[in-house]
Amino acid sequence: MQLQHAINLADLAAIASTTIEPTAWDYYRSGAWDETTLARSEAAWRELEIHARAMVDVSTRSTATTLLGRAISAPLLAAPTAMQKMAHADGEVATARACSAAGLPMCLSSLSTTALEEVRAATTAPLWMQIYISQDRGFTKSLVERADLAGIEAFVVTADTPVWGIRERDMRNGFRVPDGLRIVNLERDAGPTGHSGVGIGGALSWTIDASLSWKDLEALATATKRPILVKGLCRPDDCRAALNSGARGVWISNHGGRQLDGAPATADVLAACAAATRSTKTDALCIVDGGIRRGIDILRAVALGADAVAVGRPILWGLGAGGERGVQRALSILRDELDLAMALAGVRSAEELRTLGCDLVRRRPSGG
Ligand SMILES: Cc1cc2nc3c(=O)[nH]c(=O)nc-3n(C[C@H](O)[C@H](O)[C@H](O)COP(=O)(O)O)c2cc1C
Repeated sequence: MQLQHAINLADLAAIASTTIEPTAWDYYRSGAWDETTLARSEAAWRELEIHARAMVDVSTRSTATTLLGRAISAPLLAAPTAMQKMAHADGEVATARACSAAGLPMCLSSLSTTALEEVRAATTAPLWMQIYISQDRGFTKSLVERADLAGIEAFVVTADTPVWGIRERDMRNGFRVPDGLRIVNLERDAGPTGHSGVGIGGALSWTIDASLSWKDLEALATATKRPILVKGLCRPDDCRAALNSGARGVWISNHGGRQLDGAPATADVLAACAAATRSTKTDALCIVDGGIRRGIDILRAVALGADAVAVGRPILWGLGAGGERGVQRALSILRDELDLAMALAGVRSAEELRTLGCDLVRRRPSGG
């Protein structure tokens, strides 16, 4: 199949599976241990029924919304995924350009294979950066300063990675950062800089810290004026703690099923987390990711309380299927599907979707 014939994200995945080198493909697609969370993440969205409104004039409608004061074309952004140059030589720059063309934000991974300044230059759309708080707090501080200076608009602190999760395919494949690629934003003068070791854990173990606590978030929040979101939450009490520790928003995520196998699907915890978030701070942001594969899933997530959804693997599929054009295709498929889903559900705007909420999207009655 060729890119122009791809009509949904699964088609893009099918193309990408033939272009991406097999061990990199395994790295991208894998989840932790038995991959139960990974499998459940997609399925859980589909269990949510949409109780469409009839005879609503939907001839004029829009998927547009705003995020952190910036207008965007849909409640959708690119989630941070490591090492995008394994999917396509243009890597993160291709993703940034595609997001720019689509008017959608990108969140850059700190494990990117392109310097953050180069990615910033490739997009006029909002650019956020994911960071791990490193054992080397001085390094994290200087990375944040550097990103701040480059015009990164928000920081996303990943909280679900006190240690690296285990992906058994990577262990079997002896997966490591391919020769010729560099985790450029995480190179430092002191300590090991090579990328030897299975997975990305080996030489990058200093970039995460098992001792992290909310105090570290408080410290980071005083070190930058940019908004901070905390990524990898699944509990309402953690959403409250994040906001009370200086975060501007929360990102409900199980890391695409790659960290704790057995973590809940985000579709199952979103409503409670969003409610806790809004009751703590009315203007706090709530992002969700994990298993979003259709525009109808975006509709479901926004109705359950998300300001926007993020997609991880679908961006990598787009990259593998056709670089910048492939990512553009992935984003436009999702946005067009959302537009159609809104029309069929009798909804004219993202605002209206949020207001209708649980009246529109409901869990299927059990045993029914
Ligand atoms: C290959 C891959 C690499 C990832 N790298 C990172 C990362 O560097 N930092 C991070 O916070 N999350 C990372 N994630 C998690 C994503 O940001 C996101 O939470 C997840 O992919 C969403 O699920 P989805 O792939 O089903 O859309 C990664 C996910 C994948 C699949």
